[in-house]
Amino acid sequence: MQPGGQIRGKARVPGDKSMSHRSIMLGSIADGVTTVDGFLEGEDALSTLNAFRAMGVEIEGPENGRVVIHGVGRDGLKAPVGDIYVGNSGTSMRLLAGLLAGQQFDVTMTGDVSLSKRPMERVAAPLREMGAVVETAEGGRPPLTLRGGQSLKAIDYVLPMASAQVKSCVLLAGLYAEGETRTTEPAPTRDHSERMLRGFGYKVDVDGPVAKLQGGGRLSAVHIDVPADISSAAFFMVAASITPNADLTLEHVGINPTRVGVINILRAMGGDITVFNEREVGGEPVADIRICYAQLKGINIPEDQVPLAIDEFPVLFVAAACAEGQTVLTGAEELRVKESDRIQVMADGLQAMGISAEPTVDGVVIQGGQITGATVDSHHDHRIAMSFAVASLRATAPIKVTGCDNVATSFPNFVALASGLGMNIEVQA
Ligand code: S3P
Repeated sequence: MQPGGQIRGKARVPGDKSMSHRSIMLGSIADGVTTVDGFLEGEDALSTLNAFRAMGVEIEGPENGRVVIHGVGRDGLKAPVGDIYVGNSGTSMRLLAGLLAGQQFDVTMTGDVSLSKRPMERVAAPLREMGAVVETAEGGRPPLTLRGGQSLKAIDYVLPMASAQVKSCVLLAGLYAEGETRTTEPAPTRDHSERMLRGFGYKVDVDGPVAKLQGGGRLSAVHIDVPADISSAAFFMVAASITPNADLTLEHVGINPTRVGVINILRAMGGDITVFNEREVGGEPVADIRICYAQLKGINIPEDQVPLAIDEFPVLFVAAACAEGQTVLTGAEELRVKESDRIQVMADGLQAMGISAEPTVDGVVIQGGQITGATVDSHHDHRIAMSFAVASLRATAPIKVTGCDNVATSFPNFVALASGLGMNIEVQA
């Protein structure tokens, strides 16, 4: 990345990753043909798509974001031949664990080097309580094996951590359990599973932190319009906020209230962000977002915003590095078990760029300053790689990011889109 650059114009970032996964999962077990538009053609969502193809579901596409899923009904999945490989995708492994726990066949799911280090006991434990037979490798790590032919019973599960993946896993297992499955979360997390289940005609009751559903029902096929992913938009929201003269409009972005922490946090830092054209598309709120440059200031990030911005912290750390004064993050220990240890990896990278960034057990303390040129390692974490790319907008010399292969998991056209808006990115094989 050459230092400096501009951020001007209009863009639509790719489809929401969380919704893309769920559209395939629910479409596959629904009755009838589900069509999806705006599907994210990134490796993670494709891992989910390939998993269902391997279980006998006919899926057409993706072609220009359109996918057609010929649902096999709640009991129509077939045993895959061999293991299911889900690559880098924690969402695939954890949500599929719930969906597959009540099937008649055995399944083993494996992942790449990063996923193979991530905790799966958090889904194995509630599933076992429901009567599933779940095997993991040492320390609750993948591979994850589910033994078929068990009869599941509904549970009332109080989540020990704020995790939409764990909540969704339990609710999806609940579709196949006898009785009413309930989840209670310690803080609001993304509710796309609850909304989309309802879109498929499945009754889900939500009352504050509690979500519940009755097992044994059926899903009916539907059309799904996936909005642009706010987590991908976040890179450009920060890019525009830190680049003098920037004026950027991001179109058709999902602004579900459980996902808007990045907007709230940037605004609290003094960001100039206008949300307009608000509308609802398929049960999810969507808007256009205009971001102009503003001098940011450091803040203490409110802990209630942490789950609402959980994937956006790497790039928010870059915003903090460009802000005047100190930014303090607490209550974010979950960042240590993402695609990389995002607290440590970001702190190391920012320090290499001349910024004071001190990791703490559950967060970081960042002092705004001048970003210098550096070579930094993204540890094959897509969001870290893109965050370091954004940092180059304010660097005094080139920034070289290593280990960028996984950008394609969530944002395959990042380089083209960023270049089109005025960033100076060069990709070396
Ligand atoms: C996701 C939930 C979050 C998020 C991940 C996607 C989902 O994970 O970080 O990128 O689609 O449910 P956790 O549930 O581990 O917080």
